Amino acid sequence: MKDIIYVLDFGSQYSHLITRRIREAGILAELVSPDFPVEKLKEAKGIIFSGGPQNLSEKSALLVDRRVFNLKIPILGICYGMQLTAFMLGGKVRAGKASEYGSTEIIIKRKGKILDGLSKKQMTWMSHGDQVVKLPKGFINIAGSKNCPIAGMENMQKKIYCLQFHPEVKHTTNGDKIIKNFLKITGVKKDWSMQNFINDSIKNIRTTVGRDRAVCALSGGVDSAVAATMVHRAIEGNLTCIYVDTGLMREGETQQLKKTFKNHMKMNLRIVYAEKEFLRKLKGVVDPEKKRKIIGELFIKIFQQEARKLPRTKWLVQGTLYTDVVSSGVSAGGKHTAVIKSHHNVGGLPLKFGFKLIEPLRDLYKYEVRKVGDKLGLPKKITYRMPFPGPGLAVRIIGEVSKDKLEILRLADKIVQEEMNKTNLVENPHFFYFVALPDIRSVGVQGDARTYGRPIILRAIETAEFLTADWVHLPYSLLEKISNRITNEVKGISRVVYDITSKPPATVEWE
Ligand code: XMP
Repeated sequence: MKDIIYVLDFGSQYSHLITRRIREAGILAELVSPDFPVEKLKEAKGIIFSGGPQNLSEKSALLVDRRVFNLKIPILGICYGMQLTAFMLGGKVRAGKASEYGSTEIIIKRKGKILDGLSKKQMTWMSHGDQVVKLPKGFINIAGSKNCPIAGMENMQKKIYCLQFHPEVKHTTNGDKIIKNFLKITGVKKDWSMQNFINDSIKNIRTTVGRDRAVCALSGGVDSAVAATMVHRAIEGNLTCIYVDTGLMREGETQQLKKTFKNHMKMNLRIVYAEKEFLRKLKGVVDPEKKRKIIGELFIKIFQQEARKLPRTKWLVQGTLYTDVVSSGVSAGGKHTAVIKSHHNVGGLPLKFGFKLIEPLRDLYKYEVRKVGDKLGLPKKITYRMPFPGPGLAVRIIGEVSKDKLEILRLADKIVQEEMNKTNLVENPHFFYFVALPDIRSVGVQGDARTYGRPIILRAIETAEFLTADWVHLPYSLLEKISNRITNEVKGISRVVYDITSKPPATVEWE
């Protein structure tokens, strides 16, 4: 048996959160699809069934291999996972009289093992229409809410525990405690740490790459930076990094990269200054998807030209993350979700040119990558850099991109950064802000003269996973300061407007 928990992903928007919570507790968890072979599931110390958007009365509803219930491995069924367990073991599931969405109080009826140590009333996060109306044989009812009399059930003998609510969501006040209860039942050992991960990965990379050479595209973001640093630790001078300065970056980013990787870490770093080429290709283009495509393609072309100049290079380092690898069919980002924006990741290169891939971060979540970056000694400016779209400022300039507009936006962005850095808002890891430049003009008056300048849009949000976001109520004094500075210091800007829309209905970026 391995010290691992497998989470079967039935497509809930919270599936990744379950694995994340377990990993935060120092235990390895992996998200797998519902048809993951039982022979493999057998190796785990515990199995979790996630929630999901399905309806068990429909033929297409996802089920599990029935043998999983007889493995004698502890199982935790969450939401759809609970309904599925009841359905497959002879209980009944029906649409409830009322659906429950959001914070819901439950009353614990019998403590059992999974809710051990909790007081009678608990705040939980619910998101369901269907519910279990008849328990399967051998199960006891452990909790109920106003509209859902069976909100939890367990069969201690078979070690199967089920909850209608989501313990993985922070709004379930004692969710962490419940997950820990389950982990305790499984007897799984804590041996998932970033330091172990780094040591093992470096050894592996060294053995795999041997004396070959590798190349990595640095983008300025945390993923490629950490991936490159890890590979550099393993093969040192045999790694070359290529950074394409598209001219679409924020103020000072190229210099920061040069300072960290070339001067400080002594990596082989090649910087290609390609602003002119990018601007030429973007001339007259206003459609955001077209911009993304042009930028992605040109980036690949330039990278390829540069990489060809490197002899004996067989490997390509990529900062692929776990969330990129696992979108097993139905969960957010999987094959059933609509394409809102084609997120051309500038670091995402096709394998056309025959390199073999090294992806040292493919088992990690973003917050784990940041921890690895810290442990490898990367500066916080890089490891905690706010997510920045691959196509850069080109998708923050609405309409045609030009050098003038880029300069305006870069300066406004720098001012906002300076002001935000004076507040403690930036200590919140879920806080995110940026400025955008729309393609409109408005009349203003400055120094007794009429002006006809552009506005700057300020956006500040709070978001955990970028799937949803709330706009942040910035203090008026801060808004005032930002507005005054931008209109005084950035030529051509006569107004500052503040975006007060959440996601949904808006997206985070304007394009
Ligand atoms: P949206 O606007 O889709 O943004 O709500 C969610 C997150 O994705 C980033 N983003 C991109 N990242 N290439 C990227 O690599 C892109 O084309 C792109 N567009 C948006 C955005 O900055 C936010 O973090």
